[in-house]
Amino acid sequence: MQDELIDWYQHHKRDLPWRKTQDPYKIWISEIMLQQTTTEAVIPYYLRFIDTYDNVSTLALAQEEDIYKLWEGLGYYRRAKYLHISAKMIVDDYHGEFPKTYEEVIKLKGVGEYTAGAICSIAYGLEVPAVDGNVLRIMARYYGIKDNIAKKRTQKQTYDIVAKLIKGCDASTFNQGLMDLGATICTQKPKCDICPINTHCLSYQENLQNILPINIKNIKKTEHHYITGIITYHDQYMLIKNTSGMLENMYGFIQYECESPYTYMELFEEEFQHKLSLISYIDEVKHVFTHRKWTMHIYHFMLDTPNDDLYTLNNIHQIPLSTAHNKVLQAYKKADDY
Ligand code: ADE
Repeated sequence: MQDELIDWYQHHKRDLPWRKTQDPYKIWISEIMLQQTTTEAVIPYYLRFIDTYDNVSTLALAQEEDIYKLWEGLGYYRRAKYLHISAKMIVDDYHGEFPKTYEEVIKLKGVGEYTAGAICSIAYGLEVPAVDGNVLRIMARYYGIKDNIAKKRTQKQTYDIVAKLIKGCDASTFNQGLMDLGATICTQKPKCDICPINTHCLSYQENLQNILPINIKNIKKTEHHYITGIITYHDQYMLIKNTSGMLENMYGFIQYECESPYTYMELFEEEFQHKLSLISYIDEVKHVFTHRKWTMHIYHFMLDTPNDDLYTLNNIHQIPLSTAHNKVLQAYKKADDY
């Protein structure tokens, strides 16, 4: 299987910008960006990021706000913060040279088992697995594993299988072969007839490819309803920087989990000591995160006096705004009273 996979990869590998380098720094950046994010979405971000910060030292010296700006729209913003922290760690603890062992790489902030495996195999050829959802799916199908791949126990068993398979292989090619197989052939609707490893695939032999893997997650997305305020003062908009939470360091409109715009005005006055007047209802927009669902009921309010958190539309384009609140801004722009 390994030889067939490696041979297929060498002929069919996807042309991706991070595959043109052996620089562990650039491979690290790409792997962090690829966490929970598609290659297609990552490519332009990766190119801009590498263009702006082409080594660990320039990243370590960067302004956090500039890194967030480059990250805007990519999601999971904590990744940007962790990259910055790790870059400074590498400068301080490793004289700016990217760490060379799996044990050191996995200590970097934001780097877990999968990412450490991917970085170390691709940059250094270390024989370590990189098991993500794609690899779990491939292995469940190939070996006819009927256990739930959402369970830690199944994931550990799969990790051990891959650890055996990778021994003695060109680890970089093997792991990236699995990534490409998972992305292009062994997909949700697999293309088994053109699969390079179909000869010994148990699911292909027994026609189980549309049943396996079993993947039952019992995570409920928690639902949150907000009143989200477009608060204006003449041609300026009030935005604040999140100081904690999922969107820490991203800017956004002020929102409260309350049920009336009048309650919103009271909560706002309590927090900011400024009075608002209610202008109009705008629209409702939804945004789905991994474990959370937001419904934002947008209202337009006006401030009575200016404050320090006001931005013109031009200014807004220069600060990092979360995707959820970009949707809010677009909804407001589309509305009649804009
Ligand atoms: N997904 C995660 N890492 C990847 C990589 N190096 N190439 C393609 N897809 C990936």
